[in-house]
Amino acid sequence: MPKVLVATEKPFAAEAAAKIKTELEAAKYDYVFLENYTEVSQLHEALADADAVIIRSDIIDEAALAAAKNLKIVVRAGAGYDNVDLKAASARNVVVMNTPGQNSNAVAELAIGMMIYMARGKFNGKSGTELSGKKLVLYGYGYVARYLANIARGIGMEIYAYDPYIASEIMTKDGVKPLSKVEDIFKTGDYVSLHIPATAETKKSINWDLLSLMKDNSALINTARKEVIDEDSLLKALEEKKKFRYISDVEPDCSAKLMELFADRVYYTPKKMGAQTAEANTNAGIAAAKQIIGFFDRGDKTYKVN
Ligand code: 3PG
Repeated sequence: MPKVLVATEKPFAAEAAAKIKTELEAAKYDYVFLENYTEVSQLHEALADADAVIIRSDIIDEAALAAAKNLKIVVRAGAGYDNVDLKAASARNVVVMNTPGQNSNAVAELAIGMMIYMARGKFNGKSGTELSGKKLVLYGYGYVARYLANIARGIGMEIYAYDPYIASEIMTKDGVKPLSKVEDIFKTGDYVSLHIPATAETKKSINWDLLSLMKDNSALINTARKEVIDEDSLLKALEEKKKFRYISDVEPDCSAKLMELFADRVYYTPKKMGAQTAEANTNAGIAAAKQIIGFFDRGDKTYKVN
């Protein structure tokens, strides 16, 4: 039977791991868990006899693939697959999949939580502001953005979105106002929330040309990837716009400087934790296990991304 490696440097919640095991046992698959590993060599060793691997943000690059002689499929339990070298995987006939939508509500809830936390001055006891009545602009209108729109609507925010790959009718149906230009995102938002993947085109794309357009008293929320931000421009925005705030679900490379200069206007999580809920882990983990079983048992390649 196929052997599945579950390699998560950042482990799934215990109940999610137990459910993944149950799923694989029911299909009579072998499995092994590698959690909390500290050296990449541990991952490579564990990959040596795996037919399939379930990962989170774990790196599957050429070296990992070279170490994985039996590997046929990688499933990223989550949305973004910028941690997998798709070209190298394709060259070795390894199928790569993600589990779209499965952890998105958790990310959306965290975005809202962080927005409220910052609107209330990090709960410092002083008078803050409310989200109700403010303009939220979503850059990208995928699963996380849609969950976020839904929650934000309940709070009373006015919601806009820009996504050149999504028909504007879909946004309109959701009560979201479509924007037609990237610039409008940054001009319009009291809160601008990023929902774009990290690709060659998007890396460092949130630059001064865009950040300079933001309102003085606005906030940028990044639950996407740190790579999409041009950090020099971010520092400049915080310097020039005295009420501008940056909220991030990942530690920026320039975190030391941000904390030294702008501690009251910046918040970032200690470790990427948007998808760190028992529910998201369970949804994404079970989906990943099922996709592997479907692939081996029925040749199902739904959600293949390479
Ligand atoms: C994703 O792309 O699904 C999220 O960024 C979650 O990543 P994680 O599984 O490493 O928490």
